[in-house]
Amino acid sequence: MTDNDVVDLLVRQHEQIKSQFTEVENAAPEDKAAAFQRLVRLLAVHETAEEEIVHPYARRHVDDGDDLVDERLAEENAAKDMLTQMERAGVDDPQFAANLATLRKAVVEHAEAEEREEFPRLRQAAGDKELRAMALGVKAAEALAPTHPHAGVETAPKNLLAGPPAAIMDRARDVIRKATGRA
Ligand SMILES: [Fe+2]
Ligand SMILES: [Fe+2]
Repeated sequence: MTDNDVVDLLVRQHEQIKSQFTEVENAAPEDKAAAFQRLVRLLAVHETAEEEIVHPYARRHVDDGDDLVDERLAEENAAKDMLTQMERAGVDDPQFAANLATLRKAVVEHAEAEEREEFPRLRQAAGDKELRAMALGVKAAEALAPTHPHAGVETAPKNLLAGPPAAIMDRARDVIRKATGRA
């Protein structure tokens, strides 16, 4: 596994997202909001990176890419809507735990579909150079979403990436476009 391969990076992020769901589920009441905010950030940054970098490539270069990507985008939009509603309602909402379980199931199924149908074909279509170039953009976005709440490390990204998912996605999109020269 290497950080220079966009598929490796995204699969690793899938694992981080799954373990962050577990952290939110297991968090003490006083830690739940912060744990959920980290999940929001991870998901927002991950899906934005896929939407900006990986899905467009798959659409152009992979057989049946259009259909494949349309399905993944529909799932990402549904998850985004749910995340937005949950962020608005807050972790004290009586439905929070049930919504979190529903979201987790949908996100895991979505990630599995990417790993099964999209990523292998992407890897086949793209050369090493392209996989590395795509990884650069994903890594630039990933720097905005540290997974662990170490003092100091999280301060700057927290300021940049507080608030609702849509705001985080806008910020991630800017960073990715700059990193990939499309600003
Ligand atoms: Fe995705
Ligand atoms: Fe993904």
